Amino acid sequence: MSDFEKAIADLDLDLFSKIDSQSTQNDKQSFLAIQLAVRNLRPGYKYLEIGSYLGGTIQPHLLDDRCAKIYSIDKRPEKQPDARGFDYTYLNNSTERMLEKLQTVAPEKMDKLVTIDGDSRSIAPTQISEKIDLCFIDGEHTDEAVLSDFKFCLEVLDQNGCIAFHDAQITYNGIATCIDHLEKNGVSFRAYCLPSIVFVIEIGDFAMHNEPAIFERLVNNHRSYLYSLQDNDHYRKFANKYPFRTVRNFISRVLGGNVSQ
Ligand SMILES: C[S@@+](CC[C@H](N)C(=O)[O-])C[C@H]1O[C@@H](n2cnc3c(N)ncnc32)[C@H](O)[C@@H]1O
Repeated sequence: MSDFEKAIADLDLDLFSKIDSQSTQNDKQSFLAIQLAVRNLRPGYKYLEIGSYLGGTIQPHLLDDRCAKIYSIDKRPEKQPDARGFDYTYLNNSTERMLEKLQTVAPEKMDKLVTIDGDSRSIAPTQISEKIDLCFIDGEHTDEAVLSDFKFCLEVLDQNGCIAFHDAQITYNGIATCIDHLEKNGVSFRAYCLPSIVFVIEIGDFAMHNEPAIFERLVNNHRSYLYSLQDNDHYRKFANKYPFRTVRNFISRVLGGNVSQ
């Protein structure tokens, strides 16, 4: 077994060691579990990512000989809107900087990487010349962008494949709209959240959940459920502060919303 094969089978975080990725240890292990499932289902798989920044989430796919092609789409705006209510800034955010960093990971494998500077709202899916097996959405964290990214991914995805989202505790309303879209269009799917906050949609017949690394995380997804709620808990703390709590109490008493019969 090669070093890489052993590392991915062990969900070894060392596979992320060369470039920082803005994700928790549990997220990174979920990314590796997803990669493991996809590379076993589809040796020679193609990966597409929306939102790459420094290439942190590209590095394990770059290292993987079973990954035949990587598409990285990133708009690289100075500031990006965010569903939490304030803009986000990524400093020195350029494709050149990402490529320099990825060169240090696997210089001999860079030819399988294609970068596209742009946004799914303006890029034609025909720019992706082959069917994709795994899409990862981690770009603009707004509900509108997530839905647009998702529809783009659906267009370029193989009939059976996976679309995963990072930071699901932020873009959950957008993700809910993506699920509605699948239901309304009669697309068969399975969806679940992995720790910490990686939302996975298996489209069609793509049984990633049979991979033991996914299954183990799926049955222990208390780590995902509790993390998501606790990450948003400051909103409840805020709503429970004076004077908001007093006002809510008053409204509740007037409407009788605090009384069960
Ligand atoms: C959270 S970072 C990606 C981090 C990366 N996936 C990782 O974990 O290493 C978000 C990236 O999305 C990009 N971005 C922002 N708005 C975008 C949009 N509308 N379309 C595509 N990418 C966008 C930003 O330039 C930034 O590089």
